[in-house]
Amino acid sequence: MKLLCGFTLLLTVALAYYVYIPLPRTISEPWKLMVLDATFRGVVKMGDIAHSLGLSHSVHVINSAIVGFESLVPITNQEIQTEDVLFDGVHVRVYYPQGEEEKLRRAVMFIHGGGWSLGAPKLGSYDSLCRQMSADLNAVVVTVDYRMAPDVHFPVQYEECVQAAKHLLKPEVLKQYSVDPERVAVCGDSAGGNLAAAVAQRIGTENSTSAKFKLQVLIYPVLQALDFNTASYQQNHNVPILYRRLMARFWLEYLGADPELAHSIMMNNHTAQDQNLLSQNRAKLDWTNLLPKEIRKHFKPVFPVTGSPNILSDVPGLLDSRASPLLAEDEVLRMAPRAYIMTGEHDVLRDDGMMYARRLELAGVSVTNDHYQDGFHGCVSFAFWPCYFSVGVNAVQNYIAWLDKHL
Ligand SMILES: *[C@@H]1O[C@H](CO)[C@@H](O)[C@H](O)[C@H]1NC(C)=O
Ligand SMILES: *[C@@H]1O[C@H](CO)[C@@H](O)[C@H](O)[C@H]1NC(C)=O
Repeated sequence: MKLLCGFTLLLTVALAYYVYIPLPRTISEPWKLMVLDATFRGVVKMGDIAHSLGLSHSVHVINSAIVGFESLVPITNQEIQTEDVLFDGVHVRVYYPQGEEEKLRRAVMFIHGGGWSLGAPKLGSYDSLCRQMSADLNAVVVTVDYRMAPDVHFPVQYEECVQAAKHLLKPEVLKQYSVDPERVAVCGDSAGGNLAAAVAQRIGTENSTSAKFKLQVLIYPVLQALDFNTASYQQNHNVPILYRRLMARFWLEYLGADPELAHSIMMNNHTAQDQNLLSQNRAKLDWTNLLPKEIRKHFKPVFPVTGSPNILSDVPGLLDSRASPLLAEDEVLRMAPRAYIMTGEHDVLRDDGMMYARRLELAGVSVTNDHYQDGFHGCVSFAFWPCYFSVGVNAVQNYIAWLDKHL
């Protein structure tokens, strides 16, 4: 008996040690986040072990765990109809409310996040989110089940989303789903926010589609890979669940680059001062200029004098605005639709979103930036059973309300 008690105590201490991490005071529901983070860290570790043993790619292991977990989530808003179809060869699921409508409906194209490599758009939280949008907005929602890394790399994810968007915006397809061509939005979270921003830029400048997106909704989007030391990267590099090292890994995987480059890019060695490839791009992500003092706080830019000069030429995607929408020219931004950008204080990507909001505004685009002081990366996926965070529930309600008002 004594032995059992001792063992249980030891196990509890070990578990608490593994789960406990110091978190900022203003973060939403810290203990819940710690448990979530410990679970996620455990799954990533399992993936890494399987990978190093040569059993499977780490990303496939992590994704199987996500699919397994999401499959347990009960389906919500069951009255919403679904249809799994191909849009110009790209897998999508269309959600729509039951029954005939006299008026044409609104539509939202949704692009899920997960570092261009993870996520199950038709299951669990993303399925619930799309059903909720469809029900609350009485809208047609199209979620894009694009192929992911490591099976495909940039620009495939981007191209598939563009293909699906162009298909949706065809007059005959809009008609088939009874959608009003003037009332279509594109929306995405995290890496899906990256793809949504890139697709919005592309459709904005596209000559072949007559219908355009009216709005874009970007939820903590990732928008650039040239500065891994923005104020928010410095402030939140160790805040769950999107650690800086994880974001660097996702980027390199998306761009099909050597994962060993993570250490270099995390210290901005790819954008050292001797990189003249960068001259026109520096102003586009100069957060000392684009962000107000109260956001930047005491943080200083990190630009090594000399770095690793070959990275930018070896990984051209780093300078491609289809991968990094923040690098787009003003003429492209001007053509982009009205924007809603959600950012969280405790997120490495906070400044990506805020810089983009500022640049769009400077280009004359109307922008609403909802910033959550208790927000952390990924919170919008935790607004559904069995994992609720109040900040996630609020954020989902608020962006859907914005869509309802403006779409
Ligand atoms: C649309 O036409 C303009 C003017 O001819 C051109 O500059 C632009 O590149 C075209 N857009 C696309 C996406 O091809
Ligand atoms: C970054 O660049 C410096 C200067 O070239 C070099 O000494 C250092 O090893 C580089 N660090 C990494 C992790 O590549």
